[in-house]
Amino acid sequence: MSEEKEKEVTETSEAEIAVHWGEEEYINPPRSFVAQANLTDEKVFERFSLENFPNCFKEYADLLDWYEYWHTILDTSDAPCFKWFVGGKINASYNCVDRHLAKNKNKTAIHFVPELEEEKVEHVTYQELYVRVNEFAAILRDYCGLKAGDRVTLHMPMVAELPITMLACARLGIIHSQVFGGFSGQACADRIIDSGSEYLITMDAYYRSGQLIDHKEKADIAVAQAAKEGQTVKKVLVWQRYPGKYSAATPMVEGRDVFVNELLKDTYGKRIDPVPLPAESVLFLMYTSGTTGKPKGAQHSLGGYLSYVAGTSKYIQDIHPEDVYWCMADIGWITGHSYIVYGPLALCASTVVYEGVPTYPDAGRSWRIAQNLDVNIFHTAPTAIRALRKIGPDEPAKYNYNFKHMTTVGEPIEPEVWRWYYNVVGKGKAAIVDTWWQTETGGFLCSTVPGIDPMKPGSAGRGVPGIHPIVYDNDGNVVPPGAGKAGNICIQNPWPGMFQTIWGDRDRFVRQYFERYCKDPNSKRWQDWPYMTGDAAVVAADGYVRILGRIDDVINVSGHRLGTKELESAALVVPEVAEAAVVPVKHEIKGVEPDMYIALKPGFEASEELAKAVSAAIVKEIGAIARPRKVWIVPDMPKTRSGKIMRRVLGAISNGTDIGDVMTLANPEIVEAIQKMVQGK
Ligand code: WT7
Repeated sequence: MSEEKEKEVTETSEAEIAVHWGEEEYINPPRSFVAQANLTDEKVFERFSLENFPNCFKEYADLLDWYEYWHTILDTSDAPCFKWFVGGKINASYNCVDRHLAKNKNKTAIHFVPELEEEKVEHVTYQELYVRVNEFAAILRDYCGLKAGDRVTLHMPMVAELPITMLACARLGIIHSQVFGGFSGQACADRIIDSGSEYLITMDAYYRSGQLIDHKEKADIAVAQAAKEGQTVKKVLVWQRYPGKYSAATPMVEGRDVFVNELLKDTYGKRIDPVPLPAESVLFLMYTSGTTGKPKGAQHSLGGYLSYVAGTSKYIQDIHPEDVYWCMADIGWITGHSYIVYGPLALCASTVVYEGVPTYPDAGRSWRIAQNLDVNIFHTAPTAIRALRKIGPDEPAKYNYNFKHMTTVGEPIEPEVWRWYYNVVGKGKAAIVDTWWQTETGGFLCSTVPGIDPMKPGSAGRGVPGIHPIVYDNDGNVVPPGAGKAGNICIQNPWPGMFQTIWGDRDRFVRQYFERYCKDPNSKRWQDWPYMTGDAAVVAADGYVRILGRIDDVINVSGHRLGTKELESAALVVPEVAEAAVVPVKHEIKGVEPDMYIALKPGFEASEELAKAVSAAIVKEIGAIARPRKVWIVPDMPKTRSGKIMRRVLGAISNGTDIGDVMTLANPEIVEAIQKMVQGK
């Protein structure tokens, strides 16, 4: 190491991450977008300033219909469990369905797109949604005997019956807990137990990559496992993928399993009045899949949550009633709850529910769906964008669709990938929002307001109206915008979409999200309870927030903290590279060194030259300090079912430590292949 280099290393302060990755240039949203946007008044940031907090959020509550208007906008008496719109009575099912009938009953609420292209797309009108929600609610109430406050676990695929089931629960105040359909029976059992559900609602089968998968099988495992831990599931309600026909090989269990289709014969024509519920009642639980420990049920409120997702859907997603909106996420994640179901339907949009994978049967599928349904708002994650870019970089140009607005969500997007999304998918004509938020937060935290702010690739944007981020270093000092340093990003104020607590574990809620930066644990003032997101971030002088990933996703080489994302972003500058993941490898002297994993775009072969080019790109973009120990060109990355790269698994392979359980991965077989390559066994 040269003298100069050594000096640089020793003088680097602890809090310094990602100062190397420069800010990108602004790109203005297209004028055609701004001309029609729901929100173009810059004064919104004054109206939603901290001085006007919390009353500013009346604007969001007023997007909904209330049976009884609330009297107290924010009750902090049980801080940090905050209550919004106290005194109000409301129903989510009414707001997403009934209230649209007078003007829009013939409009499509849900476009259900089966994975098999030869199957008919189903267009569920608001009137039909109303009928089906009522008839299913009648089953919940009269057959199951469920009532407000009871929990029900759903383990359903991406079909129209999933939002129908959720809205039927919401109609009665039953708390739904939808478990991602791709999760195992065991994962479902854990959530049944934690929520204390006595009913499981599932579907017999669904399509995934062209295969009709037996899904009922998982219900049997879930119920058996739950029983072992003392949680009895009384009935399993089974929707049929093809009504009237059973599509699973696993037999129905006599006395326990029952077809929804059979039960519906008794509820045809039934109407169930929506129950007016207190604003602070629980709408649903959403378990986060934490890598260790027991899953946490993020408990989301009715009035606050619904107001917040309606407001952000209108102003950040820019949804107008005439739009066709397609969010590719799974409803089993919070993105689907907030921005496929509750937000868009509260605004009377047409929302697309697609059953399958975006690349089935070929790289053009997503763009055909967009073309044929005339989708104009498109919402997906960097992992899907990278996959689509990898297998079909030129596909979008072949289809005639017109996006006015596109979203990226879920992880930081590399500027290279952002540009492909903008230029190729959006054809340079769509505004992009990079929305940063979490399961716990219910809705967006940071994003540009697309009708007001310019875009900046790789940056989410400033806090959305009413969200006031602040960055603290490890000692609790504020890291000001423009400092060029990263820290722990927190939100100074509560907001209506924020979760109420972790289901059944208030202590863990306080400990994990508030304890570290709480100014006074006995305080009943919201000002003393900043919300800690657990993400590391840099805030530029213009207030734009760049998320570097979880606080733990930091690689510390010789006391030099490197954000994993900036290294990966540098690797993506090499044109052949489709995906990159970096992990720390133990090193006697440096502490750790980075190991870089790379997956290539199709048509490219792994070679020593390519590995060198990746290494060189990192040295050029970041510096010699970041030079990887080794660049591994792998056939594919190990990924979670939601598409996140499992750096933990790669790290274990690089370090030769225990890989742990990989059976919940989307592609467990790849682990062995990579292990062979790296460890030679
Ligand atoms: C974590 C939350 C947001 C709903 C889906 C994921 C990361 C999320 C972004 C973004 C950079 C992002 C953060 C966050 N993340 N969105 N736009 N840019 N990072 O919800 O599973 O609860 O994950 O995802 O690290 O904390 P989740």
